[in-house]
Amino acid sequence: LDAELRAASGLVREVPDFPEPGVLFRDISPMLADGRALAAVVAALGRGHDFDVVAGVEARGFLLGAAVAQAHGTGVVGLRKPGKLPEVAHRVDYRLEYGSASLELPAGTLRAGQRVLVVDDVLATGGTLNAACELVRSAGSEVAAATVVLELTALGGRNKVPDVALHALLTA
Ligand code: PRP
Ligand code: HPA
Repeated sequence: LDAELRAASGLVREVPDFPEPGVLFRDISPMLADGRALAAVVAALGRGHDFDVVAGVEARGFLLGAAVAQAHGTGVVGLRKPGKLPEVAHRVDYRLEYGSASLELPAGTLRAGQRVLVVDDVLATGGTLNAACELVRSAGSEVAAATVVLELTALGGRNKVPDVALHALLTA
């Protein structure tokens, strides 16, 4: 782990009992609010991957995904919670660590054959990342890799995306 990333990792807040009793929530907001930490994280998220476009997962994946896309001169696509998009290309329903959820791909964004870097902040149970990758493939695009800031290893989310090149900057 390089020194900048190590310093950034110190800015992740651990919040007990959010959003439910018994869940230790990792909040990366203070890390994003710090210029050096954000630069280190964005650089590390994009490093070593070959991709044509970035897909960021609502909501914190939007912030990171757009920054990674800008750094690499690519576009960015926001994979959204339901009810936000005027035109939906595809929708995937999935289970979350707490409750259930859906993600939607906006129409007119990903094209067949594009190599997509999927970006999110945290990998927990893996349901969200798996849904994001399904959405990418539903467009005929390829998941070049998936990259997250923090992997909560005890939840085993990595096992939900065994066929994806998955890179986590930090583990907890
Ligand atoms: C969090 C996080 C990931 C997802 C990980 O988002 O940002 O997207 O959960 O959980 P999983 O691996 O168990 O699927 P959240 O649903 O809290 O949405 P938000 O970013 O809009 O707050
Ligand atoms: N932090 C952020 N997002 C999450 C978490 C967490 O601890 N668990 C599930 N999604």
